[in-house]
Amino acid sequence: MFEKFRKPKKGPVAISEEEIVKGPIPNHIAIIMDGNGRWAKKRSLPRTAGHHEGMKVVKKVTKLASRLGVKTLTVYAFSTENWKRPEDEVNYLLKLPQEFMGTFLPELIEENVRVRIMGDKDAIPAHTQKAVDKAVNDTKNNTGLVLNFALNYGGRAEILDAVNHIVTDFREGNLQKKVDEDLFSGYLMSAGLQDPDLLIRTSGEIRLSNFMLWQLAYTEFWFTDVLWPDFKEQHLLEAIYGFQKRGRRFGGI
Ligand code: IPE
Ligand code: IPE
Ligand code: MG
Repeated sequence: MFEKFRKPKKGPVAISEEEIVKGPIPNHIAIIMDGNGRWAKKRSLPRTAGHHEGMKVVKKVTKLASRLGVKTLTVYAFSTENWKRPEDEVNYLLKLPQEFMGTFLPELIEENVRVRIMGDKDAIPAHTQKAVDKAVNDTKNNTGLVLNFALNYGGRAEILDAVNHIVTDFREGNLQKKVDEDLFSGYLMSAGLQDPDLLIRTSGEIRLSNFMLWQLAYTEFWFTDVLWPDFKEQHLLEAIYGFQKRGRRFGGI
């Protein structure tokens, strides 16, 4: 009852959207959404409950990124290494895009978001592929935020795939030019997207876990202990605020 008279808890001052948009907004934000399992464990829930909660966070973060004028948001949803997990969990994770699209697609369309996918589509179940293809197709003419799902994605596999395509094109006489960075980038699954300006990884792990190895060469990294299902709009604003304080030199002075 006296809640509103209480002094605010000590801690960092909240950053507002209005403040953030005064500074440079990263064009491309990539997120390694980690910690769903630990979030669930802390609550004695099955790991899948953490993944479900994490999916809701993707929705919130997408909407905020779109409002802030971020051009591309890449989210790591399933890695080529995640097949090592128990079958039940893998099945659940690979079913989630279907639920995400099923419940969120109308809003994505309304928000002018364009969905795209990077990863090995062939290995994902048909029902998921269908849901994802529908989302990509239904949003293909949208001109706002690009929401890029890394699904069954691995950075090394992506690079090898590119190399193999280049070799094939060269052999078949479709490639005469010397391979430079631009040409190589065009063979990656992220073709057409700018490299990420900001990488966020939640849950306190400080590693890339095979994520966008080529594209992250000059990205600013932001690691937080917050578990993905606990990630709030405020955390994204904090990460962008941190990004705005960095001095990016790209090798210059
Ligand atoms: C991230 O959460 C989601 C995926 C990797 C698909 P985790 O499931 O890795 O959660 P932790 O790391 O076990 O807590
Ligand atoms: C990275 O998280 C993959 C995704 C977020 C989809 P993991 O939880 O799989 O990574 P490791 O195993 O801790 O490196
Ligand atoms: Mg993890």
